[in-house]
Amino acid sequence: MKDILQELQNRRNAARLGGGQGRVDAQHAKGKLTARERLELLLDEDSFEEFDMFVVHRCGDFGMGSELPSGDGVVTGWGTVNGRMVYVFSQDFTVFGGSLSETHAGKICKIMDMAVQNGAPIIGLNDSGGARIQEGVASLAGYAEVFQRNVLASGVVPQISVIMGPCAGGAVYSPAMTDFIFMVKETSYMFVTGPDVVRTVTNEVVTAEELGGSLTHTRKSSVADGAFENDVEAMAEIRRLVDFLPLSNREGPPMRPFFDHPDRVAGNLDTLVPDSPNSPYDMHELIREVADEGDFFEIQAEFAKNIVTGFIRLEGRTVGTVANQPMVLAGCLDIDSSRKAARFVRFCDAFEVPILTFVDVPGFLPGTSQEYGGVIKHGAKLLFAYAEATVPKVTVITRKAYGGAYDVMASKHLRGDFNYAWPSAEIAVMGAKGAVEILYRSELEDSERIAERTKDYQDRFANPFVAAERGFIEEVIIPRNTRKRVCRAFASLRGKKLTNPLKKHDNIPL
Ligand code: HXC
Repeated sequence: MKDILQELQNRRNAARLGGGQGRVDAQHAKGKLTARERLELLLDEDSFEEFDMFVVHRCGDFGMGSELPSGDGVVTGWGTVNGRMVYVFSQDFTVFGGSLSETHAGKICKIMDMAVQNGAPIIGLNDSGGARIQEGVASLAGYAEVFQRNVLASGVVPQISVIMGPCAGGAVYSPAMTDFIFMVKETSYMFVTGPDVVRTVTNEVVTAEELGGSLTHTRKSSVADGAFENDVEAMAEIRRLVDFLPLSNREGPPMRPFFDHPDRVAGNLDTLVPDSPNSPYDMHELIREVADEGDFFEIQAEFAKNIVTGFIRLEGRTVGTVANQPMVLAGCLDIDSSRKAARFVRFCDAFEVPILTFVDVPGFLPGTSQEYGGVIKHGAKLLFAYAEATVPKVTVITRKAYGGAYDVMASKHLRGDFNYAWPSAEIAVMGAKGAVEILYRSELEDSERIAERTKDYQDRFANPFVAAERGFIEEVIIPRNTRKRVCRAFASLRGKKLTNPLKKHDNIPL
């Protein structure tokens, strides 16, 4: 027995060494942690239960038969994050560059199947040279098996991808189908075709970082939802995100202890909206004032900054927040902001996370680039997402809510449950100047008359009361009481039951 135990220990030690000390040192020299070091930071101490530590590949070609590292380049299993269960895989770049073989894929598929069956999120730490070149089509099949599971798990358990090294070729499509993608600055990149192929085909000269680094994907492409300074920060922030997320679509959002009174009054909100209707203010201030302990996990902070999306807690329960941002493009909706917010709203609805919307929107951004880019279809995504959402929806209009954008931003007419407005709200088809220029075109030469007409229009429509008279606004609330009002609103909606007509699935304008 003693010998067998020793044998087990030896095998475990060998497996834990991955591709050997030399390659571990090389990994560290690049500023990267190893697959196991990352899991140690991600999971609660001693909570990791590893699966398939002794799995080896089955390839006999290219001299592979004599190289059989235990685990085959990926560490898989489950553990806990602040006591809540998650399934994980962490690719080991020290073993064949973390490349994906048939058996490597099989290990990932196993934990994905268990996650869906048992209702816990899947977190993938990606650091891989892609398909295991020696295995050919077997590794491509492995990828497709993972892709299929990504799709079936979508909307059942949250899926989080962290890109912590290379992620290239078709390999990018597994992260792309997960709910959130995060990257590590300078050490990670994602692209479908790398710089060499790009140069050959298009004559463009570009570095890997320019083509697919974290700046590209958080600011330009919007493929990534955020980027972290290094592996340590990445793992700490993923733990923070997991704390906001439901374990599955069967669970509802988590409930955590809170130390912030729901009735807390925020006097500074009474002066948040400037006197001048064209002066900006920072929507983050409002979000943080309303959130428990000011804690806000922002999603896609660097992309389409004219809309802000992320998670807060109210009375300890997760709430998804969407807010127009007057500091960027005056808070207009456009292609990028509509896509960003639509995806966030759909995540929330899929996982029963209630949605809080703050509105200050002068309309859709005009221009040929928007129309040629299909703002009609992209704007419709957000409209569709809000309209199909059956979770509790609370909306607060702080200032402008003009035109179609008023309808889109979780209006009463899209089954908003509580639609509040601040006294500074202006709910109308358009701003007074634009309206008068259309209605009184023949009087445009007479500036005095036009000024009078503008004032009339403003007095009549630049307020929340016309909408309130019709019941489109439940109540005009005092800004300082916003936290109290939205907490009470969501508390009253905890028993909400609303279902959409039975269908196979909808056909959101993609
Ligand atoms: C097998 C691989 C590998 C791969 C790397 N290695 N990628 N082994 N299959 N795909 C091995 C290397 O041989 C090396 O082994 C070790 O991993 C480390 O690689 P290095 O090249 O030394 O590291 P580095 O300089 O950091 O470069 C990393 C890299 C490069 C940029 C990822 O290795 C690379 O370009 N690899 C090939 C990438 C690729 O073309 N993959 C296929 C993409 S197509 P030793 O023994 O020397 O340490 C694809 C299709 C998916 O993925 C389709 C899904 C539908």
